[in-house]
Amino acid sequence: MGFAGKTAVVTGAGSGIGAALCRALAVAGADVLCTDVDGAAAARTASALGANVRAAQLDVTDAVAVQEAVDQVVQRAGRLDLMFNNAGIVWGGDTELLTLDQWNAIIDVNIRGVVHGVAAAYPQMLRQGHGHIVNTASMAGLTAAGQITSYVTTKHAVVGLSLALRSEAGPRGVGVLVVCPAAVETPILDKGAVGGFVGRDYFLQNQGGKPYDADRLARDVLRAIEKNKAILVKPPLARAQWLFARLTPTLMNRLSMRFIESQRAKQSRVRTEVR
Ligand SMILES: NC(=O)c1ccc[n+]([C@@H]2O[C@H](COP(=O)([O-])OP(=O)(O)OC[C@H]3O[C@@H](n4cnc5c(N)ncnc54)[C@H](O)[C@@H]3O)[C@@H](O)[C@H]2O)c1
Repeated sequence: MGFAGKTAVVTGAGSGIGAALCRALAVAGADVLCTDVDGAAAARTASALGANVRAAQLDVTDAVAVQEAVDQVVQRAGRLDLMFNNAGIVWGGDTELLTLDQWNAIIDVNIRGVVHGVAAAYPQMLRQGHGHIVNTASMAGLTAAGQITSYVTTKHAVVGLSLALRSEAGPRGVGVLVVCPAAVETPILDKGAVGGFVGRDYFLQNQGGKPYDADRLARDVLRAIEKNKAILVKPPLARAQWLFARLTPTLMNRLSMRFIESQRAKQSRVRTEVR
């Protein structure tokens, strides 16, 4: 599958991985609609990428608006080839400090946002007999680390949705890929800290070490679509961690526990020294 002339919608395209996906698609010659709840950020991504890339403000929690964005592309081009359900948020910290509003917000964006994208794009792809849905989950959808518990909850849902849909969509001409990166160098790593979060280092240590480059990941994603892969885990160290977690979930969980406790102890030492 070449990407030249293909039509694509990308959500969460104002920053990070979404913006990188738009860049990779534009370089490959696709027609892209970059969308983000932050319309100005989506416009910034699109403005650098030429005439085949347009921008729109789109909140993925609004099912009607997601359907309208897909319909707009279909009206223009007669089809939708690629739907990237990528927008996401994270909360890091002690789970007892999360409010129900925060739980609902992450469920709305990370799960319902993907459901809305699938509900809007999949029937159109079935009608046209082809298409590819790409959902950005995370390593957190394959392994379970504390302190990002709400995030892990939503990303496991996205992995389940994607693999299940793939098994029924494939024979009908529609591909489904779920993207499960460990840490990627994007602004999300510094967002969403609620009380007690042991921090970015904890997140990185549990997510495969040094953050991966977003543009490199976007190129990996396009290759994975071409190969019709079910799941993309990057970088290689994350694949090893995933395997380890499947073989010995109890040990993996114990290591995660120990790490959180050692970070807590370190933080409280720093606080005491500062006082
Ligand atoms: N960066 C990482 O380490 C990492 C690792 C694994 C998975 N992911 C996943 O990758 C995806 C992209 O994250 P990122 O790292 O590029 O983060 P980011 O914060 O750089 O970008 C996320 C974008 O989503 C947008 N967004 C938030 N809520 C939205 C909504 N309701 N509707 C539409 N857009 C919305 C934000 O405005 C932002 O532009 C997310 O699903 C995230 O969970 C990120």
